[in-house]
Amino acid sequence: MAGLNGKHNNLGKALEPDLEYDPVGQEVLEDPMPAYAQLRQHCPVHHFSGLENPMYSFARYEDVQSVLLDPQTWSNRYGPGISYDRNVGDLQRYDPPDHQVRRRFLRAQFLPRTVSAFEPAIRKLAHNLIDSFQNDGRVEIHDNYALPLPVKAFIELMGIPDEDSNQFKSWADDLTLGMTYPERSRDARKALSSFTQELVIQRREMVADSDYTPDQDPVGDVVPEGLISHLACHPLEDGTYMPDAEVASMIGQLLVAGHETTTSLITNTLWRLLLNPDQMTMIRETPALVANAIEESLRFDPPVLGLCKTNNEPVVYHDVNIPENSKVMVLYASANRDPDVFESPDKFKVDRALIETKRHLSFGWGSHFCLGAHLARQTGGIALAVLLERFDQLQLLEPTKRVTPPFLWGRRKITVTWDGSSLNC
Ligand code: HEM
Repeated sequence: MAGLNGKHNNLGKALEPDLEYDPVGQEVLEDPMPAYAQLRQHCPVHHFSGLENPMYSFARYEDVQSVLLDPQTWSNRYGPGISYDRNVGDLQRYDPPDHQVRRRFLRAQFLPRTVSAFEPAIRKLAHNLIDSFQNDGRVEIHDNYALPLPVKAFIELMGIPDEDSNQFKSWADDLTLGMTYPERSRDARKALSSFTQELVIQRREMVADSDYTPDQDPVGDVVPEGLISHLACHPLEDGTYMPDAEVASMIGQLLVAGHETTTSLITNTLWRLLLNPDQMTMIRETPALVANAIEESLRFDPPVLGLCKTNNEPVVYHDVNIPENSKVMVLYASANRDPDVFESPDKFKVDRALIETKRHLSFGWGSHFCLGAHLARQTGGIALAVLLERFDQLQLLEPTKRVTPPFLWGRRKITVTWDGSSLNC
């Protein structure tokens, strides 16, 4: 029986296993951080039965990290949501040993050196987007900048033919509308899947029809560079090729995992800087702080508040018995504000030392650590740097709005001006 009873900061107060906390209640949705502070202090393991399945939440850094470091006990097979979902095909749903085999296969495409090669292209995309609204004097950043940039970056990384990129982007946008327009989202998923599958078949045929011999690498020669060609034309470690449908499903998952999250990273960072002009000034004076600002934003406003794991065996945490196969949500966002790990955790400080900030758990930790972390950091950093480069003053025009999914955290409406006269509109 695995478990943990950590030392912690309840400051002499008794733990309250029944502390009132409704993860989907209006107050928590508006700002979950005060509730997380209560959980960390008084109820580090919380049981909630108001959703479709009972759910436990872990709030302290030490507990969250211990789960992430123990994939033998904490399985991903029922998916990261609160429902028990057995769909296979995306990396996040595999456990060892299948997980490592697939992860190693994908990893090469997400290594810093591979991703860094796309930096100039992403910078150019950011400038092009700004060109399209610069003369308007004001813009809603989410729809016009933060949403299109990560998809366009992903399209580059995938090696989608130019003529298909607009269609691909429009499906990708629809895919994220799941909560508001489930039908459009379902249709987009289907369309994306058959498009990707066709592309895989086409590239495999191109290799089969060429003079390529198995000791040569066809990618970049017979078929274009990019993630799709890698998945289609390189074998797995055992010499077999990933089935077409699985490649399509993996691409869909990568898109979902990286699209909305990176968009939120961009809006969240800008939002905090607009609310804290002294921090914005600091970055303008020392542009190297962009990387720190992105990391601090990930710590302070994680795009994913928490995800679920399922325990393979009964566990006891803080004297709470958690039966086998329970849904346990690890709250990255709460762990990131744990005062046992971060100094003045509720202060947003772009000059916080990177060695401290990078202890955040917003990309997970251990074997399932986000594969797209480097791409997300790079895209977020470019988005912020180019925006500050192009506009030497930025101001928020209206109150912002939160994205709707309860366990995601980002601004979906953030209207700014760089032209003082718009402020009187
Ligand atoms: C700011 C942006 C992002 C955030 C906050 C984020 C967050 C996360 C989190 C929390 C996990 C789960 C870790 C766990 O299971 O404990 C994860 C996994 C994953 N992410 Fe990201 N992600 C981001 C961007 C991306 C991008 C851009 C991609 C790729 C295009 C991506 C691909 C993945 C994949 C493939 C996994 C599964 C890794 C595995 O199971 O081994 N993510 N991400």
